[in-house]
Amino acid sequence: MKAIKLKEGIYWVGAIDWHIRNFHGYSTPRGTTYNAYLIIDDKITLVDTVKYYLIDEMLDRISDVIDPSEIDYIVSNHVEPDHSGGLPEIMAIAPKATLITSPNGEKGLRAHYKEDWNFHVAKTGEVLNIGKKNLTFVHTPMVHWPDNMVTYLPEDKILFSNDAFGQHIASSERFADELPLGIVMEEAQKYYANIVLPYGAQVKKALGALADLALEVIAPSHGVVWRSDLSSIIGEYEKWCGNATDKKAVVVYDTMWNSTEIIAEKIVETFESKGYQTRLYNLKNTHISDVMTEIINARYICVGSPTLNNNLMPTVASFLTYLKGLAPKDRIGLAFGSYGWGGQSVGQVEQYLKDCGFETLENIRIQYIPDENQLEEIKVKLEGMVL
Ligand code: FEO
Repeated sequence: MKAIKLKEGIYWVGAIDWHIRNFHGYSTPRGTTYNAYLIIDDKITLVDTVKYYLIDEMLDRISDVIDPSEIDYIVSNHVEPDHSGGLPEIMAIAPKATLITSPNGEKGLRAHYKEDWNFHVAKTGEVLNIGKKNLTFVHTPMVHWPDNMVTYLPEDKILFSNDAFGQHIASSERFADELPLGIVMEEAQKYYANIVLPYGAQVKKALGALADLALEVIAPSHGVVWRSDLSSIIGEYEKWCGNATDKKAVVVYDTMWNSTEIIAEKIVETFESKGYQTRLYNLKNTHISDVMTEIINARYICVGSPTLNNNLMPTVASFLTYLKGLAPKDRIGLAFGSYGWGGQSVGQVEQYLKDCGFETLENIRIQYIPDENQLEEIKVKLEGMVL
C-alpha cells in the first residue's frame, strides 16, 4: 500500500472502505475513506487514524514512508471511532508519542479506550512547532461532536478539517479535481445534510474562525482532498450553514393503494406550475439520507402518509424522526394523505412538522381515492397558499 504525497513532507496514509453501504443509517453507495495524514519534519506527526478494521492498511501506508514507531505526535481531531479507531494500535507501536487533542477529545478518548495515554490537551489557537512546520489547533465543537477540532499548517496552507468538507466517496483518486466536480459536490451536500446540518450555528462560528487563514488545501477526514475549487465548497458551506433555501419543494410520501401517491403527484404539479424546482420521493424505494440531500435547500417540505392502523406509515414515521433530529430551520411544511376511516395520519404528520419548528400550510386529507374534482380543489387550494 502506497502513501500518497499531498505536498512536500505531507502524505495521505488513510484507508479506503470500498464496500461500506450504510454508515450509521446513512446510505453510502460510493463507499468512503477514512483519511489519516502523515507529516514528516524534525518531529513526525500523524493526524487522525482510521476505522478499526482498516488499521493494517493505514500502517502499511505509514510504513511506506517511515517506521510507525518513529511517530512523535498523534493529533486526534475527533473522537468518533471512524477516526480514532486506530489509536490503540498506533499508540502501542509508538508508546512515547504524545496524543494531542481538545479538552473534550481527552474526555472522549479516555471514555472510549480506557487508556492513560500521554495526552496533551491543546488550547484553541495553540501552536506546536515540529521543525520547519507549525501546527495550529482550532476547536470546532459540534462540527460534529463536542470534541471536534481542526489542525492548520500555515507553511503549506493546509487545513486538516476532519468532518467539515468531507464526502463519502471511495476512490483511487485522492483529490476532488480528479473526479467530476458535480459528484464530489453532491456527496459533500449529502454529507452536510446528514451529518453536519444540526450544527449550522457552530459551522458558521468555525467558518468565521478559519476565515483569515490562507488556504491552498483542505484535507477532510472522509473522501477526496480539496486543492482547487476551495471557494466553491466554502461558499456552499456558507449557504448551508445559513439555512438558505431555494425556490424548491420536496414531496415525500408512502402509499398503500396509490391514493396518497396521486395527491403527491398533484402537489408536485402545482409547485411546478408556480415555477418551483421539485423533487418527488416514495419512501418505499428512496433512502431517507438521499431525501435529506435535497431537503437541505428546499423551502417547502411536503410529507404524505395514508392511515395504517390509526397511525402513519412506519416509513414516514422513520423519515420524520430523522428529519426532526437533523433540524433544518426556516422551512414550510405540508401534511397530506388519503384514508379509509379514522384518518389520523395526516394530523400526526402535521404535528411532526410543527415539532420540527416549521410553519405549516393547511393540510390535505382525502377519503379513499381522490377524484378529478378533488384533485383540482387541491391544486387551487395549494396555489392560494404557496407564494
Ligand atoms: Fe467521520 Fe464524526 O466522524
